[in-house]
Amino acid sequence: MSRIRTSSGAGELLVELRRDAGVPLHQQLEGGIRARIREGLLRADTVMPSTRALADDLGLSRGVVVEAYQQLVAEGYLVSRGGGYTQVAPVEIVEPDGAVATPAGEPRIDFRYSRPDVSQFPRAAWLRSIRRVLNETPYQSLAYLDGRGTIELRTALSDYLNRVRGTAARPEHMMICNGFAQGSRLLLQVLAEQGYRCLAVEDPSDNDLREVARAAGLEAVGVPVLESGIDVDALERSGADVVLVTAAHQFPTGAVASAETRAALVAWAAEGDRLVIEDDYDAEYRYDREPIGAMQGLAPDRVAYAGTASKTLAPGLRLGWLILPTRLVEPMSRAKLMDDRGSPVFDQLAFADFVARGEFDRHLRRMRPRYRLLRDTLVDRLAARLPELVPAGISAGLHVMTLLPPDLTEADVQAAALERGLGVYGLTPYWVASPGPAGLVFGYGGLTQKAVVEGIDLLADAIGSLRIR
Ligand SMILES: Cc1ncc(COP(=O)(O)O)c(C=O)c1O
Repeated sequence: MSRIRTSSGAGELLVELRRDAGVPLHQQLEGGIRARIREGLLRADTVMPSTRALADDLGLSRGVVVEAYQQLVAEGYLVSRGGGYTQVAPVEIVEPDGAVATPAGEPRIDFRYSRPDVSQFPRAAWLRSIRRVLNETPYQSLAYLDGRGTIELRTALSDYLNRVRGTAARPEHMMICNGFAQGSRLLLQVLAEQGYRCLAVEDPSDNDLREVARAAGLEAVGVPVLESGIDVDALERSGADVVLVTAAHQFPTGAVASAETRAALVAWAAEGDRLVIEDDYDAEYRYDREPIGAMQGLAPDRVAYAGTASKTLAPGLRLGWLILPTRLVEPMSRAKLMDDRGSPVFDQLAFADFVARGEFDRHLRRMRPRYRLLRDTLVDRLAARLPELVPAGISAGLHVMTLLPPDLTEADVQAAALERGLGVYGLTPYWVASPGPAGLVFGYGGLTQKAVVEGIDLLADAIGSLRIR
């Protein structure tokens, strides 16, 4: 077997040449290169090695390589360029069996939830923070980390959260993680190791977490959400010993947990060795009034608080944080080190600088009116074009939920919308115990005002078409 080195520097490819096979070498070479181009392993525009270099590498005469290249040029797999070099031509790729399917085209207007407006990421301020951090960080900080993360970020975030979210955070109790996804997974694993058995989640709620809980060995049960937040009487009956709530702005209903619900949750946790996990994922975006403080501030030893930069800055940053009760700090720190040895240090330090200098506050002040405008536009357009779709919940966050009238199914509405290039998403995946009423969850964070208006107009048209049929 002989190896071809591509002169693009992109890597190496193997071509099997069998000198005893009875097949001419130039044909074997052609076949090997052709197959790789057809499978997309040698991509369009890749610069091929010179015939001389390749002949040397493979121990062939140059004429054999020239003949193979000429044949592949004639077949349209390679292009001979002026200046004496040869490139891979753009050809249709034959997907081998088992290839990962690329998703079908995205809808032109997409109300998929979870998308903040990443085009507004504060690049200039972030760059200033990165520059400062790269210039000023002592080399000692580049060694392996404390499992909780850098003290700079834990300090900056605890100051910020105590100021704007009413938490009672101390840097020693904070842990930096790769988003809520990692923080919640590690927390559920540690709780399962400590003997917790059953996680209660709000019904409806984000569906990923139930799977994570089950993978950690916990049972997951749904507890209904009322207008005043999770039903604590039902929680009491559920037999759960840990509960996850989105108290500031329930996902997806948009309800806020009342003062009574919060107090009852804390009282529930205080009986026995129970724990509340508070997912404070989008509390910074409350448009009608100041957000209610986090529950963690009421009972730091009964509530594990989780925050994320995914809604406020960008999900691609993968930055999240936990404020942990004392008893969970050490096991969580160990779990984080076991998982990935800590989150990337420059990202943490840049974010710490960004928060400590007030850039995070400035960014949120700039984004709040933008999102508010999008939400108001969505709600107004629904009222004008589809008054049966009544938004639930408070004026906050990056999503709106509505129920559907009984004559419509989520699947029909979704299909009719998609025919018009519109992506809308149903409530069904979020129900836990049993399927609840049909509805839609609109994420508007990444859309323009014009797209929101057009999207609701398309939806009205889609629903109109279903009723004519
Ligand atoms: C309810 C809820 N919590 C938290 C998050 C944030 O997750 P992560 O920090 O892993 O991006 C999301 C993201 O969509 C969410 O919907």
